[in-house]
Amino acid sequence: MSTARAHSNIAFIKYWGNRNENLRLPVTGSISMNLAGLDTTTTVEFDETLADDRLLLNGEEQTGAALDRVSGHLDYIRAMAGFKQRAYVESENTFPAGAGIASSASAFAALTLAACDAAGLDLDERTLSMTARLGSGSASRSVPGGFVAWWAADRHEDSYAETIAPPEHWDLVDVVAIVSTEHKAVGSTGGHRLAPTSPLQTGRIADAERRLAACRQAILERDFEAFAEVVEHDALMMHAVMMTSQPALIYWTPDTLRLIEAARAWRADGMPVCFTIDAGPNVHLMTPAAYADSVAAMAAALPGVLSVRRADPGGPAHLLVEPR
Ligand code: DP6
Repeated sequence: MSTARAHSNIAFIKYWGNRNENLRLPVTGSISMNLAGLDTTTTVEFDETLADDRLLLNGEEQTGAALDRVSGHLDYIRAMAGFKQRAYVESENTFPAGAGIASSASAFAALTLAACDAAGLDLDERTLSMTARLGSGSASRSVPGGFVAWWAADRHEDSYAETIAPPEHWDLVDVVAIVSTEHKAVGSTGGHRLAPTSPLQTGRIADAERRLAACRQAILERDFEAFAEVVEHDALMMHAVMMTSQPALIYWTPDTLRLIEAARAWRADGMPVCFTIDAGPNVHLMTPAAYADSVAAMAAALPGVLSVRRADPGGPAHLLVEPR
């Protein structure tokens, strides 16, 4: 039996579209920051007396799609370990489901680490990251700590994430402005499938290396202005692809747009803050720690904002018990 904890992450350069759907090999690289305090803790116990895998999520027994996705991922890990025992999986999030914070990243990172350890596999960080990727692409980025890059590649062995700077490198804060807690109609997995139906995806891919390099350099130099420019540009490009997919994916609401306009106005007034948005209406406001309280208060005061959560840069996925 093993227990692991992983943080969620927020992408600055987004993952949207796969070159190989089964292996979750993305069309472009991506860059993210782990989110401390927005965690999944997962315990895995393989048990020869179980007929099927069982999954308890925040205390509730899961069946159907959620269980199937976890079982499929465990099958891969069982094949690596060379046995067929079913598992009992218990998982808890520190953030509520539907709070607009991606849970598949922390969930599959924690599941991968706990299951591999419980299976007696002693894997390095790179192999854990590429294994987590098979469960959920963004989970590959929740395995290493701090500021992370995930490499796009044609082969499974070459597509993994690694740290480009440790959490203490830059005191950036993610102030998440939550405007909706509803479950989205089309999730990320379905969205990745639609990405190639937008004619704009080709342009987005063609410009990806430039954005990745600019974002990486801005992080390494702690250059907030350069960071803000490329992060907002990348998020808008992904949403332009979403909005022009067939069928169209429009995740924004009027509250989302109000936050976008607010972030741009605050920055024009001299406040170092920028926005990014995932596959949903909630807005992530990135700002240096010294400004986080002000940004959180200003965001909370806007109409439509239900609540705000803040997260500092987080460390790597880790085991909570000594590995065997
Ligand atoms: C918009 O990793 O959730 O958050 O691989 O199908 O699980 P699956 O997709 P997922 O996609 C994340 C999409 C995104 C952008 C990002 O995090 O890079």
